[in-house]
Amino acid sequence: MRQRVLVASNRGPVSYEVGADGTLAGRRGGGGLIAGMTSGLAAVVSQAEVTWICAALTDGDRMAARSPEAAPADGEVRVRMLDISPEIFDRAYNQVANSILWFTHHLLFDTPNQPQFGREFRLDWAAYLAYNQAFADALADEAAAGPADRTRVLVQDYHLSLVPRLLREKLGGHEGDLGIAHFSHTPWAPADYYRLLPRQVGQALLDGILAADHVGFHARCWADAFLDCCEAILGAQVSRAGRGDGDATGRVLHRGHVAEVAVHPLGVDVPALQARAQADDVRAHVGALGRAADGKKLIVRIDRTELSKNIVRGLAAYRELLATRPQWHGRVVHLAFAYPSRSALPQYRAYTDQMALIAQQITEEFRTPQWNPLVLEVKDDYPRSLAACALADVLLVNPIRDGMNLVVQEGPVLSERGCALILSREAGAAATLGDHALLVNPYDVSETAEALHQALAMTDAERRQRSVALAAAAAAWPPARWLGDQLAALDG
Ligand code: G6P
Repeated sequence: MRQRVLVASNRGPVSYEVGADGTLAGRRGGGGLIAGMTSGLAAVVSQAEVTWICAALTDGDRMAARSPEAAPADGEVRVRMLDISPEIFDRAYNQVANSILWFTHHLLFDTPNQPQFGREFRLDWAAYLAYNQAFADALADEAAAGPADRTRVLVQDYHLSLVPRLLREKLGGHEGDLGIAHFSHTPWAPADYYRLLPRQVGQALLDGILAADHVGFHARCWADAFLDCCEAILGAQVSRAGRGDGDATGRVLHRGHVAEVAVHPLGVDVPALQARAQADDVRAHVGALGRAADGKKLIVRIDRTELSKNIVRGLAAYRELLATRPQWHGRVVHLAFAYPSRSALPQYRAYTDQMALIAQQITEEFRTPQWNPLVLEVKDDYPRSLAACALADVLLVNPIRDGMNLVVQEGPVLSERGCALILSREAGAAATLGDHALLVNPYDVSETAEALHQALAMTDAERRQRSVALAAAAAAWPPARWLGDQLAALDG
């Protein structure tokens, strides 16, 4: 009997659009979670039966969710989309997951004004519960179709914090040896900040995750913060592992169940990424960007337009570099790719405007007839992003906080001439790549401007040497290892 792997995440590996003729066209889902999970699963589909449960996000997805299911081909992941009502989905995804949980773990609240937990929030919370219940019900249904001891459930991220608990409740104690893991791709908030959440909400989220057997994070600091919250908010019994104890960070005893908390960094699948970068579409962009750069040094950043990515301070740092170091005028171009994200939320729309405003100010202040210092692109174009990685002299990744960060790993792997990395000390990737990067405090614009200068002034040999070391560090944590270690932990 083959092993069965059930994955649950809000966004799935594919999303459908309805064409003019009414047919559905599938498109790969975006983001680090999808990239890592898809690539990790590729290594297990030959030995395991994999079902990925996700929410229907578009009208096309809803149609696909209602259509009779086509049997997956051998070695393919079966995708089951949940047709959750738009009102429940909006409250659960936009209001709770993205406006409260994401803001909490990334420390994004403007606390004199936000958050406010009133009656409306209680309705949002009820929807979050219903949305998590829909996933737990679907998982229970899938789990019941095969032997528990061969079934492994991998629940992803803050959208689905309640799922491990709800799944156990749904199975009514008959889950046998079913193994459940929960993985957070985000940071975890410090206990004092986490305490902003209403008491029952903060407790329910921890209690939900702790029903898993294995609880994973990308970096030790996030796992430690989670353990702190288990102690401070739940009063759970926490035992912490020493630094030398491999992946394990600690164990939490709560309601008679032990959850193991561990660190699983996620790097990139180097051969697959390099092969993708050789495709014609990427090479065409490499040619076009190279001609546009015209021998100038390139500072590159690639992000979703996301508050936690700290794009506005990054642009402020570039402005400060140009204001304080005139020797770079005419010799450097900043390519800032910031593609749209979560535009249903007013804070994201306001942030997009702020970003456009500072970009315009920089252009107006420094542009000359011969030199355009800044190119801000807001259209998502994956091949063009890969091309920018290949050409970057300096990669700027300065998030306020970030669970791991993917670009920081793709950049050095694809770099053709070697790139210097400026990295926020608050990114999970700082734990694996920090030794070879220029680390900055993401709030310190002057320090970031100085790091930009240092990175630009670095000798080619040093830049290349650092870049090779960064690429090797990114390659040390392939997605197959990330997933395989979690499955092995559930078996152990
Ligand atoms: C990033 C984070 C993931 C998160 C995803 C959600 O990729 O790393 O932790 O699940 O964003 O993004 P979405 O666009 O689906 O809201």
